[in-house]
This record gives sequence, structure tokens and C-alpha cells, in this order.
Amino acid sequence: MATILLLSGPNLNLLGEREPDIYGTVSLSDLVAIATDAATAHGHKLEHFQSNHEGELIDAIHGARGRCAAIVINPGAFTHYAYAIADALATFEGTKIELHLSNTHTRESWRHRSVVSAYVTGIVAGFGANGYRLAIEAAVAATATRN
Ligand code: DQA
Repeated sequence: MATILLLSGPNLNLLGEREPDIYGTVSLSDLVAIATDAATAHGHKLEHFQSNHEGELIDAIHGARGRCAAIVINPGAFTHYAYAIADALATFEGTKIELHLSNTHTRESWRHRSVVSAYVTGIVAGFGANGYRLAIEAAVAATATRN
């Protein structure tokens, strides 16, 4: 059994209430339940951490080093400018999946650029709540291939 760390960035704690036309009506705890079910179905354990603070997310990435097989991260708006999160992801040796509910490339131009994409194994974006299952399955498959 491996541990997969799901990280949620700023404002994702408000999912369900926040811009439901874009992000849907599911809450963050609903998404965590979807991800947990997907991890459990493959015999793995899921841990989740949400923060509105960049440094706390960086600390969580550091804490996953040597301990977790994979990180699935929805960095929220940090995606677009948080070089320190990109640097932290670069130190993590396992599988890394960047996850977004929305397809950021169909939205405002400032969302088209991700500073973390270059440091991840792959990206899941635009599939709403389903993306949380897809991202876990991608992490499990990519981790199995690596080992
Ligand atoms: C998001 C997309 C980001 O641009 C935005 O800042 C978010 C959520 C998504 O899941 O679609 O907070 O990461």
C-alpha cells in the first residue's frame, strides 16, 4: 500500500459556494471522498491537505519526500505564479499530477500559463469532479510503471 498526497491550494476550501458555474456545486470534502475511493479501490491510502498559504503547501510537499509515492496537486491560483511551489515539486522524486477542475486554457489569459507544469509527470484539467478520480488513477498507473 502506498500513500498518495492530495494537495489543495487557495480558495478551494470554498468549493461548492465559489463560482459554481465554473467549479460546480461539489464541496472540497466531496472531492476528497472521490479521490479517497479511487485510491482505496487500488489498495492505496490517500492523505489530503488544503491551505490558502504557499509556505504550508511547500512544507507539505517536503513532508511527502521519501514517504509518499505520489502527489496530486491542485495549486489553485498558485499554479500561475508560485515558483517556490514549482521548486518544491522539483525536489519530490515520486509521481506528480497537476490537477484543475476547469480547463484553464479556455479561460482568462493569465490562467494559460502554469509555472508548475514543467515539474510534474502529467496534467488533468477540465473534467470537474471526475478529474479527481482520473488524477488518482493516473497517479496509480504512473507510479506502477516507475517501480
Ligand atoms: C483552478 C484553476 C485556477 O486558475 C484557479 O485559480 C483555481 C482553481 C481549477 O481547479 O480549475 O483556484 O486550479
